[in-house]
Amino acid sequence: MDLLSVLTCRLEIVDDSVSSKDLVDRIVARGPREEPLHLVELDTVVKRHYDWLRHLPRVHPFYAIKSNDDETIVDTLLLLGCGFDCASKAECNRILELGVNRERIIFAQPSKTIESLLYAKEKGLRTVFDSDYELRKIHQYYPEAEVLIRYRFDSQQSIVNLGVKFGCDPGKEAGELLVLAKELGINVVGWAFHTGTGCSDPEIFYDAIKMGRRITDYATSQGFSFKYIDIGGGFHGKKDVGIQFYAVHINRALDEFFPDDQRWTIIAEPGRYYCSAPVTSVIPVHGKRVFRSAENPTRIEKVFYYFNDGIYGTFYNAKYRNVPVEPIIWKKRSECGPVLSTFFFGPTCDGNDVFASNIPLPELNISDYVVFENQGAYAKVNACRFNGFCFPKPVVFISKSGWKLLEAVTSAANPNPLVLESKHLQRNSKLEKLVFETRS
Ligand SMILES: Cc1ncc(COP(=O)(O)O)c(C=O)c1O
Repeated sequence: MDLLSVLTCRLEIVDDSVSSKDLVDRIVARGPREEPLHLVELDTVVKRHYDWLRHLPRVHPFYAIKSNDDETIVDTLLLLGCGFDCASKAECNRILELGVNRERIIFAQPSKTIESLLYAKEKGLRTVFDSDYELRKIHQYYPEAEVLIRYRFDSQQSIVNLGVKFGCDPGKEAGELLVLAKELGINVVGWAFHTGTGCSDPEIFYDAIKMGRRITDYATSQGFSFKYIDIGGGFHGKKDVGIQFYAVHINRALDEFFPDDQRWTIIAEPGRYYCSAPVTSVIPVHGKRVFRSAENPTRIEKVFYYFNDGIYGTFYNAKYRNVPVEPIIWKKRSECGPVLSTFFFGPTCDGNDVFASNIPLPELNISDYVVFENQGAYAKVNACRFNGFCFPKPVVFISKSGWKLLEAVTSAANPNPLVLESKHLQRNSKLEKLVFETRS
């Protein structure tokens, strides 16, 4: 079966007039389930891809599959022509088995197991390094590899700093590693960096690429001929942050420091950019506990709600990465109770399984639904079966025009993606928030 036919079995195609709100209503109408549900709107994936092509025409996106490995998202990006950033042998294998050419894969793991290095050799994959140990390992097990040197260039305004773990110092250490690579005869073909995931500081891309120019010049002086540039991930994925936020700084840097279009292959490794906004978590309240004032028992001091999803499911980020949840109560304000100090708990017996604390919200009842947008990144992939609860289950939709676009991309001999997009994609998948109560 071809990929489109496989995809059709996993999703529902809806009229273009069906809004995000309608889709949430459909899920709510199905009634409470044991498993938490993730509404996945593939139109948003498609839309973000075309935004990328339009605003960053020189940069090929290689989707960081670690951020959300849902098969419909991966397949859609594959159909759209994305490349893939893989962190492990298993991820590389999955993407290769989908028939992706190895040129569309970067094995962007700076510290690889020997087994995965041998696998990369067998498949001829490009990879990265950031230490002398990794270089020597590459020399021993995959000496013919094309490799990128990953240097550290951290944003102080990111959700997770990756530089604390990976990336050589771009100054002295990078120079020493390049000298060692030359001695070992390793083919270093370019560089990579990652500003940190969820980077709110777009100008840093300019400085990071400028640093890449210095490293390139040093590499040239050592006899290397760089051709490959990897600007990593880090782009926000929320519905209200587009790629334009970063593109102006990236394009300016590329035009200034790497103007030769023919020479450079430029890639990025966006993860959350693609997968955060398409996913909306839709979960019912299944338990409630109120705490009353000792002096005045009619006064409720705080209220706990229990859900079938928590920090061992979708809401790991809220707990450990300081990303506060923004609940939308799926009910008219007039039907809710008074505003109370509210706590949201997951289903497990762990007292730590709390993903919102002391937020003011109108009072809810059992079986009321709460909806959370932008929940696709580093959420379901972090979920585990602690206490026997279920993984979030994706419920996937695409509009008729979105589907036609995928068909057109697949069948066109020489598709001009932007022309196809303007012909097909019209649906706006933002939730009409004003209809609902948000925080208070
Ligand atoms: C090497 C590498 N590339 C890309 C990504 C994706 O980052 P983001 O989701 O911020 O785009 C990560 C995230 O950890 C990463 O480690």
